Amino acid sequence: MWRFDNPIRHEIPETRWPTAEEAARALLFQPIKIGPIELESRTWVPAMVPWRATEDGLVTPDNLDWYGRFAQGQPGALVVEATGVRDIPSGPLLRIGHDRFIPGLRKLVETVRQASGGHTRLLIQIIDFLSVKRRPEKVKFFDRFLKLESRHKYALAEAFEDESWLEKDEALIRAFLKDAPEEILERVLDERELESLRFGYRERVTDMDLQHIRELPEVLPGIFAAAAVRARSAGFDGVELHYAHAYTMASFLSARNNRPDGYGGSRQNRARLPLEVYAAVRERVGNDYVVGVRFLGDEVIAGGNRIEDAAYFGVEFARAGFDYLSISKGGKFEDAAQPKVGHAVYPYTGQSGYECMPTVRSDARGPFGRSVPLVASIKRAVGGAGFRTPLIAAGGLTTFEQAEAILQSGDADIAALARQALADPDWFLKVRLGRGGEVRRCTYTNYCEALDQMHKQVTCKLWDRVNLDEPEITLSSDGKRRLLPPHWED
Ligand SMILES: Cc1cc2nc3c(=O)[nH]c(=O)nc-3n(C[C@H](O)[C@H](O)[C@H](O)COP(=O)(O)O)c2cc1C
Ligand code: SF4
Repeated sequence: MWRFDNPIRHEIPETRWPTAEEAARALLFQPIKIGPIELESRTWVPAMVPWRATEDGLVTPDNLDWYGRFAQGQPGALVVEATGVRDIPSGPLLRIGHDRFIPGLRKLVETVRQASGGHTRLLIQIIDFLSVKRRPEKVKFFDRFLKLESRHKYALAEAFEDESWLEKDEALIRAFLKDAPEEILERVLDERELESLRFGYRERVTDMDLQHIRELPEVLPGIFAAAAVRARSAGFDGVELHYAHAYTMASFLSARNNRPDGYGGSRQNRARLPLEVYAAVRERVGNDYVVGVRFLGDEVIAGGNRIEDAAYFGVEFARAGFDYLSISKGGKFEDAAQPKVGHAVYPYTGQSGYECMPTVRSDARGPFGRSVPLVASIKRAVGGAGFRTPLIAAGGLTTFEQAEAILQSGDADIAALARQALADPDWFLKVRLGRGGEVRRCTYTNYCEALDQMHKQVTCKLWDRVNLDEPEITLSSDGKRRLLPPHWED
């Protein structure tokens, strides 16, 4: 995990919890419309990948238990994890790229309806991502992956001032490079090859030499639209298009996208595919269905989008007709830490990753409500353009007082709690019932995020070793952790 120089360790904020009467009067617990539906409260659990699907992306009983458990807390809305829109293997993450995924997803919808007593609206986040390979062993990279070209020979000849390199055969050059010092590799390999060696090969939306990348603008609208239709037929209340973090659509929006085909360069061009995907989705699901978007208030990388870009996109998304705008921050590959050999680069290990899931080891601002100013700016821009599309804030929201103040000040319309809901999915119910003192408070130290990084079933350190001998609990695959928080008697 990336760290500030001289971080300050913040305490989680002390708070006074409301009585049930105060909660009943609070803006946080008033209904709000998002597009054609109404949420019973302005509370939200944003998407969180729990690593519980089958290797084929199908819903498992553990998925049902996980989402059912969040639903018991009765947040206004619950967003199902980033779910792949393509019909390609992607490990134990949910998928929605074929009709065979619908029955499992339908069961998930029914589970949430039942567990929340119909109080929680259920959305599903849909995502496309490009190929990311694991960091290779050096030997393997030079034996198999490097495409040897004459420029490599020229670079060697220049580095050693010896033209005989131009005549040397491939096997000899590969054998030499395997043991060559870093300074030589830096002179011989180009930037992308060095990155593939040190971090693992990663596709970009700007790889115009690859046909499938060139064709993304032709294929993605149809793929997203088909996925959204499946979400609707499975019974979800809406879809959330994942335009945030390190994935395909965020990469189109990024200021680093310089595609020369009209889908890169200016803000307008960068928004073009995201808007075309939205239009295709809307056309297929109709106007009476929620279509929301999650995107970044700031990419937090050199040369990336800043708040001015995000404000522009917010206005254009609102103008297009998105039913809500959910704002995240950072979470990019560009500043990620080098992975170990055999592991894939993880987009939450650099400063941008910190900003996505900030911890208590922070700068003077601390992790709590850190992204709210971005949301407020986008909300002002959207409002200024004459739109009333609701905005959802996330990032270190943990107390009632804090969430209520953000809504009261008009900085955001809905408060999203991710890790706090993972620490205690009953937060919403406890606070509403005037029993906030019983909330299990998230410590914002990111044990859960480390599990995500290792692709292990996500749990919370506050409850995953508690009462392991309770009958009928399910355990993680290593048998050491319970997969769900203990039941709360209300
Ligand atoms: C384990 C874990 C998995 C996450 N998975 C997703 C995801 O699938 N999609 C997404 O948009 N954000 C994802 N996030 C980010 C959260 O939705 C949220 O934006 C972030 O944790 C900051 O909010 P918080 O401070 O309330 O935790 C994930 C976060 C965690 C901790
Ligand atoms: S593991 Fe830590 S950061 Fe994650 S939800 Fe639990 S207390 Fe919060």
